[in-house]
Amino acid sequence: MRPPVVDSHAHVFPEISRAEGRALGVADEPWLRRDADGAGMMMTGGAEYRPVTAGLWDPAERLAAMEATGVDVQVVSSTPLMFGYDAPADRAADWCALVNERILAHCAAAPERLVPLCQVPLQDVDLACETVTAAVAAGHHGVHIGNHVGTDYLDDGAMVEFLTHCAQVGAPVLVHPWDMLGADRMAGHMLPWLVGMAAETQLTMLRLALSGAFDRLPESLRLCFAHGGGSFPYLLGRADNAWHRRDLVRADSAKPPSGYLDRFTVDSAVFDPRALRLLVEVMGADRVLLGSDYPFPLGEETPGDVVRAGIASPGDRDLILGGNAVGFFDLKGNR
Ligand code: CO
Repeated sequence: MRPPVVDSHAHVFPEISRAEGRALGVADEPWLRRDADGAGMMMTGGAEYRPVTAGLWDPAERLAAMEATGVDVQVVSSTPLMFGYDAPADRAADWCALVNERILAHCAAAPERLVPLCQVPLQDVDLACETVTAAVAAGHHGVHIGNHVGTDYLDDGAMVEFLTHCAQVGAPVLVHPWDMLGADRMAGHMLPWLVGMAAETQLTMLRLALSGAFDRLPESLRLCFAHGGGSFPYLLGRADNAWHRRDLVRADSAKPPSGYLDRFTVDSAVFDPRALRLLVEVMGADRVLLGSDYPFPLGEETPGDVVRAGIASPGDRDLILGGNAVGFFDLKGNR
C-alpha cells in the first residue's frame, strides 16, 4: 500500500485577538485581524505585517486546499512570527499554552488529517520542557522551534538540554529559521527570507555538528530542518574539507559534518528538481520529508510537484511524499 501524502511544513495562525496577543508583554504583539472581505492580516501591535489567506486560520479552507492538491495529511505548525522568544519567559509560557490550545482546536476539525505541533518558550529551558511535556500529553505530535534565541543556537547548553528532553518524551522537533541574521543589510525584496533563512539553517546545522552537540545529543532525537536544510547540503563539501584541513574547525567534533547526516532530516522545500535531486543524493531518500510552507506565497503551490518531477524512483518518491513522515511524526493512526 502506498503511504499517504504528508506535508510536513505547513503553518497555522489561529484566531488570536490583539488583547490576547498583548498578554505576551511585548511592544509588537502578534495577532490576527480578520477583514470583512474574508481576507486576513497578520499584525504586530498596531502595524500590518503581511496579508494572509483563510487557509491559515480556517480548517475548512485548509482541508479544501489539501483536497484540491492531493495532500492527505498536514503537519501543522505555528507561524514563526508567533514564537514569542523576545517576551518575558513566564508570559511566553502562558502565550504558548494559549497558542498550543488553539492549534489543537484547529486540528480537531479533522484529527486524522491535521497533525498538530506545539511551540514552546525556548528562552527558558525548564518552561520549554514543561510546555512540550504538557503539549504531547494533550495531543500534539511534536514541537516546532526556531533555530536560535538571540545569540543562543541549538548547540547552546540549555538548548541541548531541551532537545534531549524532546528525545526523552518522544517528541519530534521541526526547526524553522526565524529572526534572520543580517536583516539590517537585507532591506527590501524579502531578502531575509531568501538569503537569511537559508544561512540561519546552515549555521544551526554546522553549529550542531562542529560544536560536538551531536556527539552529546541522544541518537533517538528526531530533528528536521525546514527549507531543505538551507545552504547546508549544497556547501557540505566545503565544510567537510575545512574540518579535515583545519584544526580550528575540527577541534570540538568527533566527525566531519557529513558524519552526522544520519542525525536529522530535512524537508523538500527547495523548488527546483535539480536542487531536490542533489538534496536526496546528499541526505538519502529516507531523510527528506515533503514540505510546502502552506499557505504562504513563498510555498510550493501544489505540494509534491517538485518531488514528482525530480525523483525518478517510485520507491524514493513515496518515501519523500509521505512514507518518511509517517515514521518521523508517528502518524500510524492517520490516513
Ligand atoms: Co515555513
